[in-house]
Amino acid sequence: MIYLDNANASWPKPEIVYQTLGEFLRGAAGSPVSTCHRMAREAARAVEQTRWGLARLLGLDDPSRVIFTANATDGLNLAIKGLLSPGDHVVTTVLEHNSVRRPLRALEAIGVSMTKVPASAEGFIDLEAIRVALRPNTRLVTVTHASNVNGAIQPIRQVADIVHEHGALLLVDAAQTVGALPFALADLDADLLAFSGHRALMGPPGTGALVIGSRVEPSDLSPLREGGTQGDTERDVQPRGLPDRYEAGSLNTVGIAALGAALEFLHQIGIERVAAHARVLADRLVQGLSAIPGVRVLSPSDTRRRVAVVSFVVDGWSPADLGDVLDRSFGIACSTGLHCSPDACRTLGVFPRGTVRFSPGFFTTEQEIDLAIAAVHELARTPLHLA
Ligand SMILES: Cc1ncc(COP(=O)(O)O)c(C=O)c1O
Repeated sequence: MIYLDNANASWPKPEIVYQTLGEFLRGAAGSPVSTCHRMAREAARAVEQTRWGLARLLGLDDPSRVIFTANATDGLNLAIKGLLSPGDHVVTTVLEHNSVRRPLRALEAIGVSMTKVPASAEGFIDLEAIRVALRPNTRLVTVTHASNVNGAIQPIRQVADIVHEHGALLLVDAAQTVGALPFALADLDADLLAFSGHRALMGPPGTGALVIGSRVEPSDLSPLREGGTQGDTERDVQPRGLPDRYEAGSLNTVGIAALGAALEFLHQIGIERVAAHARVLADRLVQGLSAIPGVRVLSPSDTRRRVAVVSFVVDGWSPADLGDVLDRSFGIACSTGLHCSPDACRTLGVFPRGTVRFSPGFFTTEQEIDLAIAAVHELARTPLHLA
């Protein structure tokens, strides 16, 4: 199989991730909440090591500001619902995934107001529109780091300057960038950064984190659930200290341990090398697909302004049909449709059918990219009827 769906979930994982999953589950799957025996201590050590690994990756001094979550959605919900109250205003963009759109829509029902700013036809947000959208009661601005539809990398640092000048906070959805691009939290100057562990970080599903920057006091961010923690067990209120405040209940220790192994793998290789490989593959895809008559590539032309998420449409084919034939006849796995980002697809002019999305990963080869381009070429010559 040629796997080009890494924006959804990376595959395969580094061998050490599979090994760690098995070994941890057999030998160390205690819960860190109980600390009186070896397996529990081993679980606690693995969790803290992964927390430390994420802090190192993002250049954080204080690992306790890394909060483990089940995925990016979980972290985004914690940031959005934990921070906003009735009467607050939030600015967001048309590029956001449903994991941002839907929590915000839900909060409108309790009196949070929202402004959605537009993006260009290539999928870049309009900085001036963000500035204009800010109001005296704007508490939060939430922007994706890179579009999961066409890979467009957003100018987060410039957004941060505008947001902070106004005294608001910036939440960045980094589901498509952590592990794919080399950056520290300080480079973005984001206040909250949510991401998953199972995409470019190459960890298992069920892992993710919300990083809480220094402008956010724990008292400003309410936990979404209360429950058991490692410390302060005698009290009937959730501890204020980090990370316990937001990590009630048993953690996904096995997943977090395997994510730690993936982080070590990435650290050994170096994110710069990972990003360089991704760029070569994405460039090859964009060039190869653009040269096919009847194919329209929707990802930005500037290689420096996109991650390896390449969307396209083909004349005479619905994305769903094309994806189906690519899978059945060519063994190529990709994503099709709206990618949970309908407004982004409207912006790119491909609503409601959406796109075909190829997202290569660390283990994808140039030969696989060429085979995928050849398959699209062949299919573009023989259009199926659009329903
Ligand atoms: C940009 C973006 N944000 C958020 C999500 C949701 O991530 P998760 O599945 O880890 O909750 C995705 C998933 O594709 C995404 O691409």
